Amino acid sequence: MEREVKVVIYGMGEIGKRVVRALSEKKGVKVVGAIDIAESKIGKDVGELAGLDRKLGVVVSPNVDKVLGETKPDVVIHMTQSYFKKVFPQLVKIVEYGANVVSTCEELSYPYIVDENLAKKLDSLAKEHGVTILGTGINPGFLMDTLVITLTGACVKVNKIKVTRVINASTRREPFQRKIGAGLSVEEFNDRIKKKIISGHVGLEQSIALIASALGWKLDKIVVEDVKPVVAEKEIKTDFLVVKPGQVAGLMQIAKGIAEGEEKIILDFRAFVGASEEYDAIEIDGLPPINEKIVPCVHGDWGTVAMVINSIPKVINAPPGLKTMKDLPVPSATPVDLRVCLKS
Ligand SMILES: NC(=O)c1ccc[n+]([C@@H]2O[C@H](COP(=O)([O-])OP(=O)(O)OC[C@H]3O[C@@H](n4cnc5c(N)ncnc54)[C@H](OP(=O)(O)O)[C@@H]3O)[C@@H](O)[C@H]2O)c1
Repeated sequence: MEREVKVVIYGMGEIGKRVVRALSEKKGVKVVGAIDIAESKIGKDVGELAGLDRKLGVVVSPNVDKVLGETKPDVVIHMTQSYFKKVFPQLVKIVEYGANVVSTCEELSYPYIVDENLAKKLDSLAKEHGVTILGTGINPGFLMDTLVITLTGACVKVNKIKVTRVINASTRREPFQRKIGAGLSVEEFNDRIKKKIISGHVGLEQSIALIASALGWKLDKIVVEDVKPVVAEKEIKTDFLVVKPGQVAGLMQIAKGIAEGEEKIILDFRAFVGASEEYDAIEIDGLPPINEKIVPCVHGDWGTVAMVINSIPKVINAPPGLKTMKDLPVPSATPVDLRVCLKS
């Protein structure tokens, strides 16, 4: 493509703002529109909202038809919500305007296990309009699935897979520390889980299904265990809060893919303040066995931004339809000028 790739930002939250900042350092790509429903963002210039020291001349609007109709983007970077059925109408509209989609919606990373018919409908619609849709991000999207799938490429045989992600929330933003329940009593934590104020990690099921699908494994079931509190044994101070011994430092959640009574895929996700080590570990029981450990764990926000931006050329180059990360070429960083990676 000779001209710049036109991008619309759909969801100017924490990730959307970072995407705008990262895109401002790229060439061959231009933010031409922005959509968000938050009152605090509507009417603001995207550059200022994203924390750039300049205006981009693009103002946030809640009017999807107006933005997509007037700007005719090549790609919409969609970052609003986590659940497939909630974002489905948003995705349909984007597709009907003839734009490709890269979305951070967790369940879109493997929507077939949420609602197979709806996923197939979206796939058909995308093909009809000649566009590609991808759900991606750091997790789900990479660390606990695509990276695992890639590593199994060096195995003749795979028996079992275990993936552990431990995040030291002390190094993260205050909203993240609050979101995982740091500083609450165990009773308060359990109450918030019951009221769905704390939701745990969305996407473990998708990561398991994505791995199983890539390996051709037929799972009998995917079990996602309840979110549990990680309780502090000693006092932990962060820049934002203090956790006393016996209070909640964060959360953990385990999910398992089971076939013929055997636990074939185990994902163990933990995020808590005061973690002595933060890492991403992948253990593949296979021939040969593979043990990979990334220390410190990959930063979730920037990792997500990278996955999104680096997916833009791959999505534009891909054949139309609803794709998952296993359907596209190996993830890779993009050069400064995104157009270098475009086929035509
Ligand atoms: N796959 C991954 O690895 C990964 C990583 C990070 C984030 N995520 C997901 O990506 C999404 C964005 O993350 P974030 O941290 O940027 O979230 P965020 O800060 O909550 O931002 C989302 C923004 O989208 C707006 N929004 C919500 N529904 C909308 C709609 N129907 N139309 C237009 N705008 C809408 C929100 O407005 P209100 O505030 O008014 O609702 C908010 O401004 C979340 O669902 C998050 O869970 C996935």
